[in-house]
Amino acid sequence: MLSGRKQPKGPENVTETPSRTGSPVTWRSLAIATGFAAGLGFLYLDQKNKKIREIQGKQKGVPDGSGRPAIGGPFSLIESHSGQLVTDELFRGRFMLVYFGFTHCPDVCPDELEKITHVLETLEKNLGKETVDSQLVPLFISIDPERDTPKVVDEYLRENAFHPRLIGLTGSVEQCAAAAKAYRVYYTKTNVRDGDYLVDHSIITYFMGPDGALVDYFGKHVTTDEMVKQIQARLSAKPKNSVPKGN
Ligand code: NI
Repeated sequence: MLSGRKQPKGPENVTETPSRTGSPVTWRSLAIATGFAAGLGFLYLDQKNKKIREIQGKQKGVPDGSGRPAIGGPFSLIESHSGQLVTDELFRGRFMLVYFGFTHCPDVCPDELEKITHVLETLEKNLGKETVDSQLVPLFISIDPERDTPKVVDEYLRENAFHPRLIGLTGSVEQCAAAAKAYRVYYTKTNVRDGDYLVDHSIITYFMGPDGALVDYFGKHVTTDEMVKQIQARLSAKPKNSVPKGN
C-alpha cells in the first residue's frame, strides 16, 4: 500500500464507481456510462477482432487457435521524457505492461497507475530490482494526444510519483490512434464543454510477452496481489543480461 494513497477496490460490476469523497454526481454518472460504453466497445471490438482473425488466418504473429485474442501490435510513439520516437521493437525481449489513458483523467487513470506502481514495487521486493528492470517494461500510452504532449505526460508521471520506470508514450493523433487500435482500446471524447472534455476509454492493463504477444490482461477490479502473482509466475528468477536496455 502506498502511503496516503487510495488503492482501487470494489466489487466486480460496472456500477461500482470510483469513490473519491466529494465527487460530484456527474462524475458518478459518467463513471457508470464509461464502464458500460467501454465494456460494449470492447465486446464490439472483440467480435470485430474475431472476424479479423478469421480473415488473417495463419498470418505471422496472429495466435493460431490458442484462444488468445490478437491484441497488441506495432506502434510508433514519442517517449515523453526523451522526446524520441520509439517503436514496440525497442521493448522486444522483455515483458510489457501496457496501460492506455490520459493525464486529465480525474480518477481511474491515477488509480490504475498507482496500482501498476505498487505491482512493480512488490515485484522488485520479491524478485530484486535488477530482475524486474531487465524483464519488464511498464508503459503508459496516451489516448488524448491533443493535450498530452510529451512534456505534459512527462510532468504528469513525475509529479504524481508513479513508478520511476513507467515510460510515457504519446504522439500525433494518428500515432496514438494506431497504437490504441492495435490493442483494441476503445476511447472517445465526452463531456465536451468550453474547450474542455473527458475521454471515455477502456480500463485494461495488458501484459505482453517478450515476443509482443498478449499473455494476460487485467481489468480495473483485478487486485495488486493478483497482478503480482500472474506476472511473477512468468518472470525468471534471475536477471537476463542479454536483453537490450531501454531508455
Ligand atoms: Ni482514465
